[in-house]
Amino acid sequence: MRTAFSTAKSAPSQVSAEIVPVAASGPLPAGLGVTRADLVGVGFEAKAGQTHAMSSTGRGKPVRVLVGIGEVRDLNENGLRTIAAAAARACSRHESVSTTLGGVLRGNARGGAKAVVEGMGLALHRWHELKNDKGGIATLTKVVLVSADKTADTKAGMDAGVVTAGAVCLARDLANTPPSHLTARQLADKAVEIARQTGLRATVFNRDQLIAMGCGGIVGVNAGSKEPPRVVKLVHAPAGARTKVVLVGKGVMYDSGGISLKPSDASHASMKMDMSGAAAVLATMSALRALKVKTHVTAYLMCTDNLPSGSAMKLGDVLTFRNGKTAEIHNTDAEGRLILADGLSLGAETKPDAMVDIATLTGACMAALGKRMAGVLGNNQGVVDQLLASSSRTDELLWQLPLHREYRSLLDSNVADFRNIGGPYAGAITASLFLDEFTAGVPWAHLDIAGPMESDGDSGWLNRGATAFGTRLLIDFCANFRKPAAKSAAKSVAKTGARTSSRRKK
Ligand code: BES
Ligand code: MN
Ligand code: ZN
Repeated sequence: MRTAFSTAKSAPSQVSAEIVPVAASGPLPAGLGVTRADLVGVGFEAKAGQTHAMSSTGRGKPVRVLVGIGEVRDLNENGLRTIAAAAARACSRHESVSTTLGGVLRGNARGGAKAVVEGMGLALHRWHELKNDKGGIATLTKVVLVSADKTADTKAGMDAGVVTAGAVCLARDLANTPPSHLTARQLADKAVEIARQTGLRATVFNRDQLIAMGCGGIVGVNAGSKEPPRVVKLVHAPAGARTKVVLVGKGVMYDSGGISLKPSDASHASMKMDMSGAAAVLATMSALRALKVKTHVTAYLMCTDNLPSGSAMKLGDVLTFRNGKTAEIHNTDAEGRLILADGLSLGAETKPDAMVDIATLTGACMAALGKRMAGVLGNNQGVVDQLLASSSRTDELLWQLPLHREYRSLLDSNVADFRNIGGPYAGAITASLFLDEFTAGVPWAHLDIAGPMESDGDSGWLNRGATAFGTRLLIDFCANFRKPAAKSAAKSVAKTGARTSSRRKK
């Protein structure tokens, strides 16, 4: 993150702009020198996220940029994050700003400051490494959060926001990087470097080691590539941890589809982002020590590309995974589940309290839920509910789909334990049923982020390009994790009995 945040007790004069929050009703902030009627007259009604730049009150004095916060009683951290993002965009041509925006949530200076840092930090982020013309890049790099009282809370919220927003920017940078600029080996090197900086233990497994470990899924997907695969294991081991979580991220550095080649359309060009799950997991791990997360967290980044060549995996081939199960390949483009299979198997071996995988897994999930939300499916409602709670706190939207066991037969194979694709329908569910074969009964949930991995425009905390969706959500999940009940069957579609032939009386 390029934006530097600091706190102050009163508004500094050396900034070039001051962001002034204005509620939609009630008295205006003192000293504005205008009436509400004046503001309404120029079209500024102080609706949430509306902005209005006023002229400077004198030479060398900061310009005031009003930002609407709507009705204060309706405002929460999610709303404030979005408002702060709008304010940052309105000031992106300035160099430095101050604002009291962090203090507008009654009795929640910490949450307010965190939301403002996240909203501004994410709205100002761009990946421009390979652009010669940096003209379109925000010049705003310095933000001062002003709060006369509650200084300690404001500082604590700001510090937490700097960690989470920094993690998101890291994951976005990785996912925006072109595939030939970021190979599995390079991502593994990067992960080791980040681990060293953020107090994680890191172990990298190369192709020979993965073969010896029986990880036939990732080795099979990698077979068509000149670039070797990497699995990165990262461990956050705080003293006295009482709970244990495993995270698994899909790190397909580039998904061409393999022999089942994708057409050369816009969505194919986005397949450099098929490692967004691994990027979100790495970014999450990088934040845990700084946020003093008490849960023990182990992560597996499953990194390879998926390419066609004379050595590529073929349709009809059978792969054997880490847990000994076998799958017959019916479509080489359904590769994400093949690498997650090994990751989940490795994760389940240590019997954690929960496992979560995150993956740009199916176009079907994107077709069902669109680009703003991810699908969540799992074998344990307790884990799913904790993810849904994190979703509502982070504004990274999730919707639960049923892990409908009857569809498992769609994966049946003549020659192996199952096939790697189901039929034409319910693709997000059949993919999840495939993954469940590798969870060994560990409470587990799967996040399908194919839809929200990329944003088409700038709006709220989202910017055009890679979104790093899931990073703030998984950080929140780890920070608030509680052991779920082992037997907590996930919500699914109710069986009516009437339709089940075996129940029908003769
Ligand atoms: N990485 C893709 C899924 C994807 C699609 C992510 C669009 C983001 C945007 C995944 O590997 C894939 O190709 N899935 C196939 C599965 C099918 C062959 C069963 C799909 O969804 O078409
Ligand atoms: Mn694919
Ligand atoms: Zn893929």
